[in-house]
Amino acid sequence: MKLWGGRFSKSTDVIVDDFNSSIRFDQRLYREDIEGSIAHVTMLAAADILTNDERNMIISGLKDLEIAIEKNEVTFDISAEDIHMNIESLLIQRIGDVAKKMHTGRSRNDQVATDMRLYIKKEIVAIDQDVFDLLSTILSLSGQHTETIMPGYTHLQKAQPTTFSHHLMAYFEMFKRDRDRLITTYNRMNQSPLGAGAFATTTYPLNRQMTAELLGFDSICLNSMDAVSDRDFLLDVLYTLSMIMMHLSRFSEEIILWCSHEFRFIDLDDAYSTGSSIMPQKKNPDIPELIRGKTGRVYGDLMSLLTTMKGLPLAYNKDTQEDKEVTFDAIDTLKMCIPIFTKLLDTMTVRKEVMRSGAEGGFTNATDAADYLVKKGLPFRDAHEVLGKLVLYCVNNNTNLSELSLDEYQKLSPLFTEDVFEAISLDTCVNKRQVIGGPAKEQMETVNQLAKDYLEKNATIE
Ligand code: ARG
Repeated sequence: MKLWGGRFSKSTDVIVDDFNSSIRFDQRLYREDIEGSIAHVTMLAAADILTNDERNMIISGLKDLEIAIEKNEVTFDISAEDIHMNIESLLIQRIGDVAKKMHTGRSRNDQVATDMRLYIKKEIVAIDQDVFDLLSTILSLSGQHTETIMPGYTHLQKAQPTTFSHHLMAYFEMFKRDRDRLITTYNRMNQSPLGAGAFATTTYPLNRQMTAELLGFDSICLNSMDAVSDRDFLLDVLYTLSMIMMHLSRFSEEIILWCSHEFRFIDLDDAYSTGSSIMPQKKNPDIPELIRGKTGRVYGDLMSLLTTMKGLPLAYNKDTQEDKEVTFDAIDTLKMCIPIFTKLLDTMTVRKEVMRSGAEGGFTNATDAADYLVKKGLPFRDAHEVLGKLVLYCVNNNTNLSELSLDEYQKLSPLFTEDVFEAISLDTCVNKRQVIGGPAKEQMETVNQLAKDYLEKNATIE
């Protein structure tokens, strides 16, 4: 018999039970569902809608049920549709008729919205912790590599020398912004829908402020129609998780390139690489590739829910039951990807010499050679022209700017003197870039210190 069976003269077809039910995937909300029910009945008793005895029986029944679920002693029933009605039916079976009073003044519509918010808040905190650990690892690598010179790229062509520290800290900024997004998402969704009922509240004197406080919400959703139909908070989460995946994917792409034979900038630890079933020599970067691949899947989760929501009239519609699998999928994916990526970074070997010799090729010091002429009085556009010719000369003679003789330099401009070689050395190119935000060692040390302070002051979201 369904909890809502009164109005029906026959039972649902079994394929309808199967199609309609969400217990397969919403059973993971059991803790939040019980937590919400405990707050609800506590408030009902305070408002004299339930007696204290009734409240106590329901709460201890719910607590026992939670333990039984945790111990795997409970089988959920597909014909009870979802976690909310499964818990209510199980409670009725266990403590009898008093449990039938639990749903007074409540609807599954405000219940499910409350459960999801409670669940997501916990998951945001967990994911934020993973991002925090990733940031710590990036910072510790950055501290070791303020003097590790590597080529920086534009258009994936060697452009100017930089350091590995500078490169890494670009990702620090991205993941730090991601934490900001997690925090604003958390704060924006920290409102209680409970008490909204089906969509129009109820005639019982519910104290919504009280349940909001019991459940740890900052405030209540002010419009009860919005409270039950809003899934913006899940879209905020999915967008934020998509951004994190996008950043992980860009970083993964670089790691895949860097460990290729063409770059050889890094070596992945054997424990974080995989082999080939046919080619004995292979050591493949499956982990960053999978992270790059799973990014598409998380974007899909976001697009899926955006599309589900776009045509929904107010207030509750069953379509929103589809919010769960995509949100859970994205959360599960992130909870796998971030920690494994952090370990991969932490265990990889950085080949400093290869990075440095990579920066020696590709004329990465040409801008600095042009700037040298500017400092000697030549307008920049003319200096650019001189350097263009010098680079072409090097290309034709299979050499580079550091190998040319002073004579060869002076043929193109008399402004060149012996000190040009010092001016275009990789160390000068990097360490004379003393502009804030740039790669010079002192600048990176300042930035690393700021990052350290940030991590110390922002260890958790709450
Ligand atoms: N399982 C449902 C969901 O996830 C719970 C709410 C059902 N409400 C209703 N009026 N049928 O959305």
